[in-house]
Amino acid sequence: MSEQFTIDFTEETGTSFKQKPVVWQHSLATSSLFSDEALIWLIENHPRDHADFCTMDRGASDRASWRGGDPGSHSGAELLKAVRQGRLWINLRKTCNIHPQYQAILHDMTTQLRDKMPGFKPTSMMGGLLISSPTAAVPYHIDRSDVMLWHIRGHKRLWVYPLNEETLPEREVEEILLHEHNDDVPYNPAVENQAMVLDLEPGMAVSWPLHGPHRVENLGDLNVSITVEWSGMPTVIQNGAHITNGILRRKLGMNPQVENQGAISRFVRFAASRVLRKMKLVDAKAACKQGYEFEVDPDQKNAVTEYEAHSERAA
Ligand SMILES: [Fe+2]
Repeated sequence: MSEQFTIDFTEETGTSFKQKPVVWQHSLATSSLFSDEALIWLIENHPRDHADFCTMDRGASDRASWRGGDPGSHSGAELLKAVRQGRLWINLRKTCNIHPQYQAILHDMTTQLRDKMPGFKPTSMMGGLLISSPTAAVPYHIDRSDVMLWHIRGHKRLWVYPLNEETLPEREVEEILLHEHNDDVPYNPAVENQAMVLDLEPGMAVSWPLHGPHRVENLGDLNVSITVEWSGMPTVIQNGAHITNGILRRKLGMNPQVENQGAISRFVRFAASRVLRKMKLVDAKAACKQGYEFEVDPDQKNAVTEYEAHSERAA
C-alpha cells in the first residue's frame, strides 16, 4: 500500500533523533483530512471523554492558569469558530488511533521512520490532534513519553531546552513521573539563554530528547498539529529508573542520578519500578485535577465564560 504522505528525513536527522532537537519536512499539510470541514466533523464525532477543551493565560511560567472547560452542546462549526476567535486549545486525544481515516497516518509514520531508522520500534504510539487559537500558548513543561510534533496549519514558536540541573532538576522529573497528573514544572527565566527557538510552519515536524522542557506560543493564526506520543523500550526503562530513584530518594534519603547509572543498573531500576507499582508505593493518581472551570462560549472574550469558582480564585 502506498503512503498517504511523504517525509523528507535525512540520514543526519536520523542520527540526531532523540539526541537533540531535529526538524524535518512532511506533506501532511496538503491533506484534506485537516480542512475546516474535516476538523468540524472530528470535533463533533470524537468521543468527548477523549477531548480536552482548555484555556490559559499567555506566559512561559503560567501553568497554574491552564484550565479545562465544558464544550457544552455547541456544534463543531461553533466550536471551531470559538477556537479561531478566542483563546482555546483543543486536544482530540488518540485521533489517529480511533478514526479509521486517520489511522493510516500513524501506520505510515512508523513505516517511513523505521525505513530511515531501523531501531525505531515504538512499543506504544498515540496520535492526537491539536487545534488551537491564534493567541494560545502552552507553558513550560515536559512530556512523560517521547514526542513528535507534526505541524499542519498555522504558525507557532517553539522553545526547546536541554534537560539539566538548571532547566529541570532530576528530582522534578521524578516528581512528574511519580504523580501521573502532576504537570507543575518550575520555570526559571534564567534558562532562556539555553533555549533553541524554532518557528514552525505548515509541513514541518520536530522532535527533541526525552523529557526536554519546552513551551509554545501561537503566532497569530489558527494552528493544527498532530502530536505523537510514543515510547520504545529505552524510554520505558529510563522512566522506570526515574520512578525507582524517586522512591529511593524520598523513602530512603538516597541521592541517585539516572545519568550516572549504567544500562544494567537502569534496567534493574526499571524492573524494581514495576514491582513498586504493584506494591502501590507509586501513587499514580495523586494531584489529579478534575472538573471544568469554564464553559466554551463562542460569543465571549477568548470564547470563555468562567465559572464562579475560578473568578473567585482569580480575584
Ligand atoms: Fe509537550
